[in-house]
Amino acid sequence: MKKELAWPQFIKNHLIMVGSRPRSHLKRPNWIIVLVFIVFFFLVAAYIYPLRSPSSTCSFFNSQGCSFDGSGSTYSQPPPVQARQLTDAEVESRVVINEILKYYPVQTKVPKVAFLFLTPGSIPFEKLWHMFFQGHEGKFTVYVHASKEKPVHVSSYFVGRDIHSEPVTWGKVSMVEAERRLLANALLDPDNQHFVLLSDSCIPVRRFDFVYNYLLLTSVSFIDSYVDLGPHGNGRYVERMLPEVEKKDFRKGSQWFSMKRQHAIITMADSLYFTKFKHHCRPNMEGNRNCYSDEHYLPTFFNMVDPGGIANWSVTYVDWSERKWHPRSFRAHDITYQLMKKIAYIDESPHYTSDAKKTVVITPCELNGSKRSCYLFARKFYPETQDKLIKLLSNSTTF
Ligand SMILES: *[C@@H]1O[C@H](CO)[C@@H](O)[C@H](O)[C@H]1NC(C)=O
Ligand SMILES: *[C@@H]1O[C@H](CO)[C@@H](O)[C@H](O)[C@H]1NC(C)=O
Ligand SMILES: *[C@@H]1O[C@H](CO)[C@@H](O)[C@H](O)[C@H]1NC(C)=O
Repeated sequence: MKKELAWPQFIKNHLIMVGSRPRSHLKRPNWIIVLVFIVFFFLVAAYIYPLRSPSSTCSFFNSQGCSFDGSGSTYSQPPPVQARQLTDAEVESRVVINEILKYYPVQTKVPKVAFLFLTPGSIPFEKLWHMFFQGHEGKFTVYVHASKEKPVHVSSYFVGRDIHSEPVTWGKVSMVEAERRLLANALLDPDNQHFVLLSDSCIPVRRFDFVYNYLLLTSVSFIDSYVDLGPHGNGRYVERMLPEVEKKDFRKGSQWFSMKRQHAIITMADSLYFTKFKHHCRPNMEGNRNCYSDEHYLPTFFNMVDPGGIANWSVTYVDWSERKWHPRSFRAHDITYQLMKKIAYIDESPHYTSDAKKTVVITPCELNGSKRSCYLFARKFYPETQDKLIKLLSNSTTF
């Protein structure tokens, strides 16, 4: 009677049989050969892919994410492949941006807020700003970019703070270039942690301490960024911005930003997207189209590279409710306690779009799920309002 072979012996015998016996000996039924192949296959597989604990995602049938370092941990997955092949310049740009985002913020002993004034000449509200800054020395720095004529300063906080300036034309890229010049100069001071862009018609609507804490105790930049499907929004987009800037990423927003140091550095580092806007978002383009880089470059750029890092509203109030080409400008007779209080306590920001329905999108000013007042500054104010504003804003019990 034939002796039952143990499994290993059985396999060994048949492996030898398959491998070395001459053809004439292959008289055994075919099923044995098939069985031997299956067993052989599993032995090889078991050798290459050793058994793992059931919790492991690594198995012979699902080798994705397997690790072979024996520690049981899986390889960190590489970033997902983009739907569109990025150009070399885009890949290089993303590397720089992501590294900057990774290593910031860097804390300094006494962080400062940089106030960047973009003005044609003298600043009519220097007296008001002086009152605002007084007593807070060491917590702020002032920079003035005067594009037309040398300003005459009346406040000691502004004397000697003019930076090298170039002419600025409304709506042209020279506006963005002036903003970059201001950022670059302010970045030279390592204590500047937050950067606020202001115009000659801007005023503060809250006390210094409130502004300082509001800006420095949040981790975001207040860069306005929204979708406007109408002619003054997406209607300004041209396909020459492709491939880097797609229409779905195009945004509009107020020019008056406030930004964190990391975002100011990223703005300095960017030449790829800036150049795109410089060439393809300008007034009097072909087809009588007008695009204004100061309203689209930063809102689009930050929506693309760090959407979670921006609040999507500007901390500078402006009244577009009249829906004219320029926003409402406040005169002396408009200035009342009620108006200033109303502006200071608004907690929803409206976005007026240019589509056929003239949609107004109202979003609560919310960070981390908690609502807050939206505005720290306001525009546009005629110089004649200053005396009334000084009287009102010195009532520190309200502001
Ligand atoms: C939201 O909360 C986190 C954790 O508490 C904090 O680190 C972050 O700065 C907050 N974001 C803002 C915008 O304040
Ligand atoms: C700003 O908008 C972008 C894009 O819609 C969004 O991803 C981001 O979370 C928003 N930021 C905040 C702070 O809500
Ligand atoms: C100062 O603020 C209080 C309320 O906080 C208000 O009642 C008062 O009228 C204000 N004074 C002036 C001069 O506006």
